[in-house]
Amino acid sequence: MDKMTLNDPQAPLRGTIAVPGDKSISHRAVMFGGMAKGRTTVSGFLPGEDCLRTIECFRLLGADISRTGTDLVIDSPGIDGWQEPADILYTGNSGTTTRLMLGILAGSRVHSVIAGDESIARRPMKRVTGPLQQMGADIRGRKGAQYTPVSVLGGPLRPIDYDMPVASAQVKSAILFAAMRAEGTSVIREKEVSRDHTERMMQNFGMRVQAEEGVITLQGGQELVPVHVDVPGDISSAAFFLAASALVPGSEVVLENVGLNPTRTGMIDVLEAMGTDFGVDVSRSDDSEIRGTVTIRSSSLKATEIGGDLIPRLIDEIPIIALLATQAEGTTVIRDAEELRVKETDRIAAVAEELGKLGADIIPTDDGMIINGPTKLSGAVLDSRGDHRIGMMAAVAALITDGPVELRGPGCIAISYPEFFEHLNNLRGN
Ligand code: S3P
Repeated sequence: MDKMTLNDPQAPLRGTIAVPGDKSISHRAVMFGGMAKGRTTVSGFLPGEDCLRTIECFRLLGADISRTGTDLVIDSPGIDGWQEPADILYTGNSGTTTRLMLGILAGSRVHSVIAGDESIARRPMKRVTGPLQQMGADIRGRKGAQYTPVSVLGGPLRPIDYDMPVASAQVKSAILFAAMRAEGTSVIREKEVSRDHTERMMQNFGMRVQAEEGVITLQGGQELVPVHVDVPGDISSAAFFLAASALVPGSEVVLENVGLNPTRTGMIDVLEAMGTDFGVDVSRSDDSEIRGTVTIRSSSLKATEIGGDLIPRLIDEIPIIALLATQAEGTTVIRDAEELRVKETDRIAAVAEELGKLGADIIPTDDGMIINGPTKLSGAVLDSRGDHRIGMMAAVAALITDGPVELRGPGCIAISYPEFFEHLNNLRGN
């Protein structure tokens, strides 16, 4: 297994970086470009492993996709012109590719089989295959289509009126993709509002979709018109440097072109509640995805409470927020986050155990954790467990430990942030 030793704790971070493209939006740009007939172009694409899997799936379906760095040109025959893939659609570690593709394939005209790595094989798929089957999709898979591999025989679909039992943009998006192909009007009701990139991109590609107070209404059968998509930087990647800068004394970091879609900015609310010294400057809000510059300085932190409808707005940031909480004065409580149990790893267990090895005081609960701070952290051997966000949390923790941290399995960080260590070194003047 790959491993690395992270030395030189306490060196301040100073400088400016542009974080890589947003993972959720990059996936969707390829998906919409692959479904729309004609040429879609994309800039700011994230060439992380997960998004590259999505590209491979669409190549197998017959889209011609060329990539130069972070620019894509997608020429597609459109969903009705796809070829039957000659191989399985392999989604690697990517839950977003797996779940969203199920919704897309259900209403296509091809037969396909989807499978991913051993983490994907453990992740629940019934939350997507269930509603798709209600729409008439022909989907079979392991344990009654609860788990991958899953086979999808695309065909005609019925519209759905669906109350979502979990707040999940992946589930919502899969149903919306299927609803695009259904005859009639579908209605999806969200428990709590989750990231809305799919709805926004539908509008960019010329569709009419209504989204109000958690109720989304979509008329099936609308055409997609290919466009240019400019992907903003990923706030979920920025989160690691926001935290690093807040934690290491003497730091000041400027993060440019960060996506500031309000369904994603829960981390900003938490930085505010914890009393960090930061500023947000919106640079562009004239298109469907707001973006701007975030500046943050090292700060003394206070504990906070996180739960309810804030959770979907920061679900991927909870590991790094937990690290912040270990250095905050008081008790931080995170609740209503049981979804963390079914991410790339069980992130409640992974965060509590890995940060616990450094000396953090974290009590895992069924739906979150209780963190007492501040605690001094010391060096130890940590394991990413193949989860990119646990790997980056460990690397940021190593900035404030007494003594070096050995990180096992840092390679998975390339799933969402291939230049993570390069950016870290630049900010530390190395
Ligand atoms: C994502 C939705 C979230 C998030 C994941 C990306 C998306 O998952 O954790 O990293 O792009 O739709 P859930 O839908 O399971 O909450």
